[in-house]
Amino acid sequence: TICKRYAYTYFIQNNLKEIFLSIHKIILDCDPGHDDAIAILLALSSPKEIECLGITVCAGNVPIELTAKNALRVLSLIENKTVPVFRGCPKPLVTKLVTAEHVHGESGLDTGSGVSLPEPISNCQKQHAVEFILETLSKHPSDEITLVATGPLTNLAAAYTLDPKTFKKAKNIILMGGAGFEPGNITPAAEFNIFVDPFAAKSIFESEIDIFMFGLDVTHQMIITPKRLSLIKKSSNSIGPTTADLLTFFNSYDTKKYGWDGAPLHDPCTIAWLIKPEIFQIKKMSVEIETNNGPAFGRTIADWFNVTDKNKNVNVAISGKSDQFFDLIAERLSRFS
Ligand code: BDR
Ligand code: CA
Repeated sequence: TICKRYAYTYFIQNNLKEIFLSIHKIILDCDPGHDDAIAILLALSSPKEIECLGITVCAGNVPIELTAKNALRVLSLIENKTVPVFRGCPKPLVTKLVTAEHVHGESGLDTGSGVSLPEPISNCQKQHAVEFILETLSKHPSDEITLVATGPLTNLAAAYTLDPKTFKKAKNIILMGGAGFEPGNITPAAEFNIFVDPFAAKSIFESEIDIFMFGLDVTHQMIITPKRLSLIKKSSNSIGPTTADLLTFFNSYDTKKYGWDGAPLHDPCTIAWLIKPEIFQIKKMSVEIETNNGPAFGRTIADWFNVTDKNKNVNVAISGKSDQFFDLIAERLSRFS
């Protein structure tokens, strides 16, 4: 009997270990933003893979008052009052804030139909985002918390500056930002998130924390075509039509500007990788951030062909399977029916 009991305990402990090890405990730092909104929905519809401890917002696509309100509105859409939202830094570390209303509309979450998302049903927490990030990291063992960043890296860099030792307890940083091979989308050289706060990005990229970068190289493969938009619309009775309405607005800028079939769905690549890493191909390389004034300001200089012997500090997503990516999104959204 003792033997059996021991075997049983051993079995349970190991299985629990298995289960818990496979859940990513994340803090999602974002600037919603349409694609940030989809990243939130994807994370919160995947409880077997992802436990979202909190959403922290930074200034980016729109000023901080709006990114905070938009995060709460996305939670309101799915009637979620439990995930806490923390307001972070209202401006980049050094430079003036640059926003992207030309892509996301005045509210940051404009819709094709003009009907706004529901008003928030909860409030932001009193604690500052940077304090929440550091407190969470200090409460958990090293290498347990994953920081996902889908906006400028201001909050993360502020936390790192405030308390580097605690910040380095993070398991890794999974970020949307930069462009290794692709040209930029806010200047010919720079991607928006890095351009808004290149000094924050430089500090994070030099932190020696394990970084996974989902930049324009891979996100420009994830185009919201009309077929994929209708897949999303049909995915869920409760939120499919509203999500498609949001993405219809989001599609309008890129289709006009680039002549593409739709906009690239950037930010959810980070969460999709945590759920199904097999969707993406990753290559480790040296990535440096250009912070000198000039046309390359905010560029991520990636040693794609390994022409230097510089430290390979970043895991760069170099390609992704777009059908699998959109199938995953539609399947997870269907859980909100
Ligand atoms: C990034 O910029 C923002 O407009 C999007 O939300 C995304 O995070 C793409 O360059
Ligand atoms: Ca974003």
